[in-house]
Amino acid sequence: MPQVTYTDHTGRSRTVTANVGDSVMETAVRNGVPGIVGECGGSLSCATCHVYVEETAALAPMENMEDEMLWGTAQERRDNSRLSCQLRVTEGCELHVTTPATQG
Ligand code: FES
Repeated sequence: MPQVTYTDHTGRSRTVTANVGDSVMETAVRNGVPGIVGECGGSLSCATCHVYVEETAALAPMENMEDEMLWGTAQERRDNSRLSCQLRVTEGCELHVTTPATQG
């Protein structure tokens, strides 16, 4: 089963099993991972699912709408910033993301 590791801004990590096809945001919300709100449910209109991705090579490239939304995040945008509702879990993947200190 694919796994996603979430590390918060203090360095505390938690790894959860994910379902293929779910988003990293959905996986976090379902498992009660703090630091990812997902207010809009994944419709690219809130940016409260902002994460910093530790490994970007295996991910689909960013679409224009996600790129635009990332300029409105509560925490600074970095080179590895992504919106976790746009990151799909694939078979065998092991993703590691860091959540910002706040999403509000
Ligand atoms: Fe709203 Fe990702 S959950 S933009």
